[in-house]
Amino acid sequence: MDKRPIGVFDSGLGGLSCVKEIMKIMPNEDVIYFGDTGRVPYGTRSRETIIKYVRQDIRFLEGFDIKAIIIACGTASSAALPWIADENDTKIMGVVEPAAKAAVSATKNKKIGVLGTGATVKYGKYASNIKALCPDAEIVQKACPLFVPLVENGYTDSDVARLIAAEYLEDMKKKSVDTLILGCTHYPLLKKVIGDIMGKDVTLIDSGAMAASAAYEFLKQESLLNESGENGKYRYFVSDSVEDFSALGGMFLDRPIKESVEKIDIEGF
Ligand code: DGL
Repeated sequence: MDKRPIGVFDSGLGGLSCVKEIMKIMPNEDVIYFGDTGRVPYGTRSRETIIKYVRQDIRFLEGFDIKAIIIACGTASSAALPWIADENDTKIMGVVEPAAKAAVSATKNKKIGVLGTGATVKYGKYASNIKALCPDAEIVQKACPLFVPLVENGYTDSDVARLIAAEYLEDMKKKSVDTLILGCTHYPLLKKVIGDIMGKDVTLIDSGAMAASAAYEFLKQESLLNESGENGKYRYFVSDSVEDFSALGGMFLDRPIKESVEKIDIEGF
């Protein structure tokens, strides 16, 4: 057993969809969360910049005595993790592999959709992971750059979200995908809108939740789970407004953020 916390980071609030699942399936685990709210979005930036940000995020979390890091960000997992995976002693897990695996198990017609940021779609890591598991899968990818600002500003169940989602999902419907990866950890907040448009026969895969399940399996296998029986403790750090994070973060976690949220200067890492 290992009582050290798990480090989790994202470009902003989206990674909290992974933390929500950690709270559910590993309630004893302590979590240190970093949301890079001062530099969100990552998805419109170059790979070099995303890698620089991700290295800083990892260095910040490694300053705590953590046992593993989850990159709870589709963009960072696609555009940085494959290039920096060997740089660290800490175990680092992303969202791409677990979500691709879940999609391959869920699909019946082998038509899988992937929604993500521009960078996520550009680097095609969900697609290559799906292909490695199911070579004859047909994959439809779509970059959805307007989803993140909608979510970060709380427009999750709104007419504007429905309009934009209808446009983004047109191709997914035309091509009859039966499984759709929400390849950005912000998107589960739009699950209702996306689900209404796609219909109940389409399985939506929550990449953040899948990463939490994969982390559970890893920690269990390595005997690193916290089995103390004590409730997990949570610490949150951001690179911009503490108030905005506390107010909106509750939407992702489905419970208010009562713990302290601290602002840090991520450029110093
Ligand atoms: N949460 C990030 C992801 O999973 C999206 C936001 C961004 O572009 O930074 O891709």
